[in-house]
Amino acid sequence: MTSKFKSIETKYMETREAALRALAGLNRRDFLRVSTAVLGATLARGIVNPHAFSTIQVANAQAPDKQPFRVAYISDSHLYERKLNDRFINALMRAVDDVNALDPQPDFVLYGGDLAQLGQPKELEIGAQILKNLKAPVRMMVGEHDWYLDLGEKWRDLFGAPTYSFDHKGVHFVVLNSVVEKDFWSERKLSPMQRMQTVAGLDNSVQSPFSVGDEQRAWLTADLGKLPATTPLVVFSHSPLYKLYRPWNFWTEDAEQVQSILNKFKNVSVVHGHTHQLLTNRIGNIHFHGMLSTAWPWPYAPQGLPALTIQMARPDPFNPHDGCGDGTLTVHPDALIDKLYNLWNRNPITISRNYLASKGQKEPPRQPALKSF
Ligand SMILES: [Fe+2]
Ligand SMILES: [Fe+2]
Repeated sequence: MTSKFKSIETKYMETREAALRALAGLNRRDFLRVSTAVLGATLARGIVNPHAFSTIQVANAQAPDKQPFRVAYISDSHLYERKLNDRFINALMRAVDDVNALDPQPDFVLYGGDLAQLGQPKELEIGAQILKNLKAPVRMMVGEHDWYLDLGEKWRDLFGAPTYSFDHKGVHFVVLNSVVEKDFWSERKLSPMQRMQTVAGLDNSVQSPFSVGDEQRAWLTADLGKLPATTPLVVFSHSPLYKLYRPWNFWTEDAEQVQSILNKFKNVSVVHGHTHQLLTNRIGNIHFHGMLSTAWPWPYAPQGLPALTIQMARPDPFNPHDGCGDGTLTVHPDALIDKLYNLWNRNPITISRNYLASKGQKEPPRQPALKSF
């Protein structure tokens, strides 16, 4: 006998399946057609920029502006080729739809790294193809899953240099490659794929810890050296620029050295990917914001955590996108950020800049009324 009542889980599954069917239908023909049209128009106008590869350019990039502005983020999509797994591809397309639906549009979109799962050209290419459908300009950051098959060759071909800076409405932005590892592969005679798979393992102890490294720290020192200490500064890094949990590489080995370069500034916001969870921390003048993944949520590390802003409910096994999503960052003229976690299938959660600025005393994030949904 079929019950006329549907459980919450059944409704979730039906809604999700319908959404995915719609996206899959769009995906095969329309997405490619739209992408080709966008790319064609961009090439025709001669304005391809490796870090802003849509047709819309960042307006007034140098003009100081005392108004807050909005940046969208999408991160950690971990794409496989479609023939192996299209769930993560559909999830990235869902994020692109979310961002394209924002009104007004964000000034730009930050992609937070780990676009690919195993750094393979086809994984990166399909990711680039999907991201080209974003209406706003895109700023790309690299993650370890993008890098360790060919040491960044394909990623650089598609997106340009992984380390760069730019100014937007009076705020100085820096993008770092924070997943530099020491050579653990040559001595062990690992193939490129063995190297990639070693890095891709969350708790694989053979790999070295991530770092920003001497070369980029020298570049960062020079890049920031010309700026007055009052300059609002936002840094994007794939791994958190602090030491959270070493066994999972939620960790940047030279974090203290990087932090000391940032110390002269009054306020610095660091926005990172890699941890796939709601995560907020503050160390001195530096405010840290973790981004959600579109692919899966990691659990919280069992030790070394900063004070949690809000307990992430445990992932619901009936809901493949539980704990996943995208979000926006409202960047204020003082470089502090109001962060919105757009959790798919749950209520969005906002972390106010005043919460971190007051060391947790003001504007605590709202607790969900129901723990499980
Ligand atoms: Fe990731
Ligand atoms: Fe990562």
